[in-house]
Amino acid sequence: MTWQDDAGRDLVRSFGPRMAMFVRGEGSHLWDADGRRHLDFLAGIAVTSLGHAHPVFVEAVATQAATLAHVSNYFATPPQLELASRLKRLAGTGEEGRVYFGNSGAEANEAAFKLARLHGGAERPRILALTDAFHGRTMGTLALTGKPAMQEPFLPMAPGVEFIDSTVEALEQAIDDRVAALFVEPVKGEAGVLPLPDGYLEAARELTARHGALLIIDEIQTGAGRTGEWFAFQHAGIVPDAITVAKGIGGGFPIGALITFATASDLFYPGSHGSTFGGNALGTAVANAVLAEIESAGLVAGAVERGAQLRAVIDRIDSALVSGCRGQGLLIGVGLRHPVAKKVVDAALARGLVINAPNDTTIRLVPALTIGDAELDEFETLFAAALSAVEADLEGTA
Ligand SMILES: Cc1ncc(COP(=O)(O)O)c(C=O)c1O
Repeated sequence: MTWQDDAGRDLVRSFGPRMAMFVRGEGSHLWDADGRRHLDFLAGIAVTSLGHAHPVFVEAVATQAATLAHVSNYFATPPQLELASRLKRLAGTGEEGRVYFGNSGAEANEAAFKLARLHGGAERPRILALTDAFHGRTMGTLALTGKPAMQEPFLPMAPGVEFIDSTVEALEQAIDDRVAALFVEPVKGEAGVLPLPDGYLEAARELTARHGALLIIDEIQTGAGRTGEWFAFQHAGIVPDAITVAKGIGGGFPIGALITFATASDLFYPGSHGSTFGGNALGTAVANAVLAEIESAGLVAGAVERGAQLRAVIDRIDSALVSGCRGQGLLIGVGLRHPVAKKVVDAALARGLVINAPNDTTIRLVPALTIGDAELDEFETLFAAALSAVEADLEGTA
């Protein structure tokens, strides 16, 4: 019996076959069950922001687990209050901000969906979301996710959500005083690392404010410094009504949060939402440690610098297969001229490089924020080899 047999028999079929079995990680490297070392430029899909087994992460898990892990939301704990205050500061909510804790991105967005309904009531049944944006796979967040093929097997969806193109014109046409909220993903990661048009967030802020709708920004993939600001909306200099975060804030520990600004902070009332695990002492202590390390090590500004270096590496590889790079900071989509992204991922894995393909023509690079020159050099060699192998294969079949 191999691990592939076990996985094929015992794990839910909602994921395809597992591509490898990893048993250990350190920094930006993973070791598989055969002892083979891999360079990890996926970081658990933008999650392990400090890399694997970072001493700060390890220490935070161990110390808090040995102190107090969980008491339920009937009670407060010091790490929970510290994290709420830290997230308010990093997001710039000011005094009025509030934080709801869940355990994943989808839970953060579920809370945001309920926030939108509380704001909208009967007068504002409409919610706008962007075609192709991804907000999660629970029934509520799937209803917000503008991908008909994903929704179709699970119809009917929660009502009221309408999908619009990611243009200011489409928003201008769609918005009115019956809209409760606009949901926005600032760089559509799952759709292929597609940034919004320049000026979109500024216009969205102006239009939602004019019509009394909430502007809710999904920072689950873009947050925690990945794009070169703590949160991607900060590049636009706007103030949203709410943002959702998860992935990188826990550095590998499952945690998500909804952060509200201004009057949106007054919408939830006792009993209107909750989670047993959300905001427990263990998860919040780890997220505090991860965010404090990102801050003290200057990894937010570092994402700009390392992102530019990573793009320079792609340029230097100068592959005929690559059409260009998209994204911000260390959230990079490498566009391909042929629909062979899955082949590139396989060729990379065969050479010891972990990357992924959000669609047929895009490779997503979301390494740990801690990558250095050595990782960039290693990436250059491995990615160039993977691209050449696929190019040669394409030429062979042409
Ligand atoms: C933008 C965005 N929103 C929401 C989610 C859902 O997060 P989770 O998988 O933690 O539920 C993801 C996950 O990929 C995401 O990228």
